[in-house]
Amino acid sequence: MEQIISLCKRRGFIFPSSEIYGGQAASYDYGPLGVELKNNIQQAWWKFFVTSRPDIVGIDAAVMMNPKVWEASGHVSNFTDPLVDCKKCKSRYREDHLPEDNKCPSCGASDWTDPRQFNLLLKTNVGPLEDDTSAVYLRGEIAQAMFVDFKTVQQTMRLKLPFGIASQGKAFRNEVTTSNFIFRGREFNLMEFEYFIDPKNWEESFEFWLKAMKDWLSYLGIDEKNLFFHEIEDGERAHYSKRTIDIEYQYPFGMKELYGIAYRTDYDLKQHQQHSGQDMTYTDPVTNEKYIPHVIEPSMGLDRTVLAVLLEHYHEEQAPTAEEGETDKRVVLRFPFDLAPIKVAILPLSKKEPLAEIAQKIATDLRDDWMVQYDETQSIGKRYRRQDEIGTPFCVTIDFETVDDKKVTVRHRDSMKQERIAIQELGAYIKTNR
Ligand code: GAP
Repeated sequence: MEQIISLCKRRGFIFPSSEIYGGQAASYDYGPLGVELKNNIQQAWWKFFVTSRPDIVGIDAAVMMNPKVWEASGHVSNFTDPLVDCKKCKSRYREDHLPEDNKCPSCGASDWTDPRQFNLLLKTNVGPLEDDTSAVYLRGEIAQAMFVDFKTVQQTMRLKLPFGIASQGKAFRNEVTTSNFIFRGREFNLMEFEYFIDPKNWEESFEFWLKAMKDWLSYLGIDEKNLFFHEIEDGERAHYSKRTIDIEYQYPFGMKELYGIAYRTDYDLKQHQQHSGQDMTYTDPVTNEKYIPHVIEPSMGLDRTVLAVLLEHYHEEQAPTAEEGETDKRVVLRFPFDLAPIKVAILPLSKKEPLAEIAQKIATDLRDDWMVQYDETQSIGKRYRRQDEIGTPFCVTIDFETVDDKKVTVRHRDSMKQERIAIQELGAYIKTNR
């Protein structure tokens, strides 16, 4: 973890928020490379689960909803964590996060208060008055909008079951303990969808989406041997779920939840029907049967995905340097091409003309399709190492021969193989070899 945290800070992926004021616990900012990586994952997810499918549509909903939503959904009464205080040092922990020996991680004592339930919804006020009439919750999950908008989306898009509504965006939780970099924050990014089904098909649908989540993880390049599929027992599941599998990832701090898939039954739509008085039923166009649809919910945390992707693709190895027979440590992020923040680095061997003009022209042309970085400082060996460390799949070197033969050297990140390619074939070459 230390290496990843340090690399993220050093190279502008992710760093503490408001650092000049000493930071803010568990708040992080995505820097220029981090935001590219995060956006690439987010956009790939949207394509994978929404735009490439005929049966899922998307929405982008408000963070502040009517507070009645959270009463109806059960979050006001049930969205809690058990909290204990160490009687000796007064540190506060989630009871279910205590170490196995039950000792206080701060002082080593094992003298705890009785657990009390602590609600995770973050509350704020809208408008000039700070009283109960102006209180709203920041959304604790992004799912609720997809339930309350169910009828509107179904009717405006004339959708027939089964179909899904997807969303991406920030959720907020007043987590008692935050830890492990971006793993557990008080604000975090979610990507999830509610798949509305006839209850007869729930088991089949659950298996289908579990398999789709595995396929997505494979697309991200996550090795299945680093994953564990944890069937959550009765009594341990969220208040709305009849079956949940947590997909856990082997983080350096333990096997921990990365994603979850839940069978939410008709719990949410029924609750909203009762509390709002609005009809949430669906009429089958063939049988005329009327019922409240059931729901399978694949839920994927974006920040946890970013962390897993960084960890999975981080490698340290000994690699040859420019000096004959010498090696040094090479840090390389072996991101799949689609996820890499920078796809191509343009490296002219001289800052001066004519190489600079040729190199700038190549960079401008490639920018039509890809994120390009132009780097003209320090030795070529150092520049290669810098690009390896941020996961750039291709480096393009413009040297003095380029002026005559109109060719450049393309160096591959993973194999470090180098090839001489005509400038006019560069775009096609990258497309084929990506
Ligand atoms: N709508 C269902 C739902 O929100 P959840 O298991 O509470 O379910 C879904 O959260 C996902 O959100 C988790 O699998 C995890 O990836 C991510 N997540 C949950 N709490 C988080 C936190 N405090 N910080 C970062 N990610 C979190």
